[in-house]
Amino acid sequence: MRALMLGAPGSGKGTQGARIAERYGVPHISTGELLRAHVDLGTETGRAARASMERGDLVPDLLIAAVILGRLAESDPSRGFVLDGFPRTLQQAQAAYGVAKETGMTFDAVLCLDIPHDELMRRLDERGRSKGRADDEEGTIRHRIEVYEEKTAPLREYYEARGIFLPIDANGTVDEVTERIFAALDRLTDSS
Ligand code: AP5
Repeated sequence: MRALMLGAPGSGKGTQGARIAERYGVPHISTGELLRAHVDLGTETGRAARASMERGDLVPDLLIAAVILGRLAESDPSRGFVLDGFPRTLQQAQAAYGVAKETGMTFDAVLCLDIPHDELMRRLDERGRSKGRADDEEGTIRHRIEVYEEKTAPLREYYEARGIFLPIDANGTVDEVTERIFAALDRLTDSS
């Protein structure tokens, strides 16, 4: 399984990505988590990424490419993966497709978690208060959602055109959303 999690901040990419990865026995690779680990460790990458992340902006493509390629090289990507948070722009998607086509590792499925904005705000505001993630502050959450709408949402059409796009209703309990995702993946597997 080579799957991509697409969805606005707080839609559940991390939560559901981990469950999909466990079901298929593949690594869950979250660019947000990788970057936050760099920030916590104070690496050069972390220092370069920190300000953009705290503002809720995307980090530069070159930086994200280095992070993702480094992580993919740690496991055998041909055995599968769940990518969470990359690609996030059309340029990133086109670059990823170029590399994937050459290596025969294009995505099997792009799961897009659809959810109303007020529920995103509620989830992230709650996490901000309980876990204190630096970008879970009301103004920054709103900006992250705007950045998603402007830069990442257009990827829907890109992946719809490639016939691997699976829209998922991500409103509901974590278990309900997982059931919908597994059912969609089962239909995809059965039809191939
Ligand atoms: P990233 O970590 O990817 O942040 P994000 O997209 O804003 O997503 P979140 O992690 O906030 O939410 P999620 O959709 O994973 O939901 P989660 O499962 O956590 O990226 C952070 C930053 O890194 C970016 O802003 C950017 O600066 C940089 N970056 C990353 N990738 C990049 C790239 N490719 N290019 C450039 N820059 C990049 O759930 C959210 C909360 O809701 C949790 O508390 C969870 O417990 C709860 N929850 C989940 N599901 C449910 C449910 N069904 N019901 C109730 N609560 C739920």
